[in-house]
Amino acid sequence: MKYKEINRSNIEVLVKDFYSRVLLDKSISDFFISNLGSDMKSDLWKNHIKTLSDFWYKITLGEGSYRGNPFAEHLKLEGLKVQSFQSWLFLFFLSVDSIYSKDIALLFKEKSTMIAGNFMKNLGL
Ligand code: HEM
Repeated sequence: MKYKEINRSNIEVLVKDFYSRVLLDKSISDFFISNLGSDMKSDLWKNHIKTLSDFWYKITLGEGSYRGNPFAEHLKLEGLKVQSFQSWLFLFFLSVDSIYSKDIALLFKEKSTMIAGNFMKNLGL
């Protein structure tokens, strides 16, 4: 049964599902492993999952406590390519489609595509 509405708890399901896929994908896993390690149960990962859940809550519902500057974090990552973003989006879409009904999945896809596009533009990719 796919979720027909967005709430804080199913966003966390999404974020965890996404990162489980990321850690298995050699084309982008190293960006995360070198910053956070490979154990999603660690405190570093728990913090990251909470930050990303707050982020998606804010992006999709306009609510919540996320106040960070997402782009700045990515300026620090060496070796990001257009293909890295393509892999990121591919995995994110797989997660979104497996968790949410069609209309909600579409919202996440539109937002993530737009943000990834802005990141690439700002990174000169
Ligand atoms: C190839 C693509 C990407 C890679 C490799 C990547 C990797 C990372 C890494 C390593 C961090 C920092 C983790 C830490 O040390 O805490 C991070 C933070 C973050 N990323 Fe990405 N990312 C990518 C694309 C995206 C996209 C497309 C979005 C949004 C749609 C996004 C949203 C965020 C957010 C919200 C944070 C947390 C910023 C904060 O601390 O406030 N990322 N990302």
